[in-house]
Amino acid sequence: MKKLRIGCIGVGRLGYQHAENVAYRIPNAELAAVCDINMDRAEEAARQLGAAEYYGDYNEMLEKSDIDAVMITNTSSEHCACIKAACAAHKHIYCEKPTGLTIEELDEIDKAVETNPGRTIQVGFMRRFDRSYQDAKRRVDSGDIGKIIKIRSITRDPACQREDYVRFGPGAGGMFFDMSVHDFDLVRWFAGGEVKSMYAIGGIYEFTEFEAFNDIDNCSVLMQFDNGVMAEVEGSKQGVCGYDVWMEIVGTKGTLLVNSGTTSYVTQKDEYGMRNECQPWFRERFEEAYLREVAAFVDKALTGEASGVDTGDARKAVEMAFMAQKSYDDGKIMCAQQ
Ligand SMILES: NC(=O)c1ccc[n+]([C@@H]2O[C@H](COP(=O)([O-])OP(=O)(O)OC[C@H]3O[C@@H](n4cnc5c(N)ncnc54)[C@H](O)[C@@H]3O)[C@@H](O)[C@H]2O)c1
Repeated sequence: MKKLRIGCIGVGRLGYQHAENVAYRIPNAELAAVCDINMDRAEEAARQLGAAEYYGDYNEMLEKSDIDAVMITNTSSEHCACIKAACAAHKHIYCEKPTGLTIEELDEIDKAVETNPGRTIQVGFMRRFDRSYQDAKRRVDSGDIGKIIKIRSITRDPACQREDYVRFGPGAGGMFFDMSVHDFDLVRWFAGGEVKSMYAIGGIYEFTEFEAFNDIDNCSVLMQFDNGVMAEVEGSKQGVCGYDVWMEIVGTKGTLLVNSGTTSYVTQKDEYGMRNECQPWFRERFEEAYLREVAAFVDKALTGEASGVDTGDARKAVEMAFMAQKSYDDGKIMCAQQ
């Protein structure tokens, strides 16, 4: 069986999970190398996951002609430079969201991708590979709930991860780019149109340490698409019951609810009432989606096909993050043509 030989750039929280999937759970892929600016982490990951090589500098790894593809899973502020270098080295590319953090970076990425024809490029919007979101999309597309009126996409990260937010925040781009970008991609996917107008509000309600890197801990973004569909995106770092991610789609003939994940089908009934345990964090809630998205990338790269979620989709989602940031900063409704 032909295997796609992959090098992973950045083996932190998510990069390690993707690398582990490639090493053990995707039969037509091989983890050829790992890279991390933290060489100890790179060495440890290579040892644990059986990668033959490890690097501290991704440019050195990209020189290896026997590496077919790279997964760019390092800090978001590094993605644009990595995509450009991987395109120059003619690799297939899987890149975590967001691709770029400025319009200039998005333009540079578009140019770089044009110079790398015949290679698959996919961006990590894993909710599109989650079975429940896919099921909801199938129902919307088959007209089960009629014409779509409004979509709500909610992401509440667990408050207990506060320390990690402070560590991770400075290179992540802020709430709209790092977190809500998932919801922007989803509402655009479900609405089947492009955003026409948007208004974003929010602020720091609890995590005052976010001021140091100009971020907020809660936001609410209202928008309308060019086909009339309304949408609302909510982002919060203060999920009290764990990782609380869900979506509601209201149509003329029915409503779909993509529920927040629970860890099991067990409901506990006791003196406090009835409860289900929530998913603790993104890795557990989207464990299968992370595997399915990288497996799909590997299949596409081996057959030379374009990926379903490419830098064009990623650009649209990041542009929506820009609109939201500008609306929030200026306190104004943004219109797409502005
Ligand atoms: N799709 C999702 O649900 C999801 C979830 C979490 C993170 N992410 C994305 O994944 C990416 C990584 O996030 P994380 O949570 O794993 O972060 P992390 O900080 O835990 O890990 C990043 C790793 O990249 C390394 N790194 C930084 N710059 C590097 C460089 N120039 N070359 C090589 N290695 C470098 C760091 O040393 C670290 O080990 C981010 O872009 C983030 O937005 C996506």
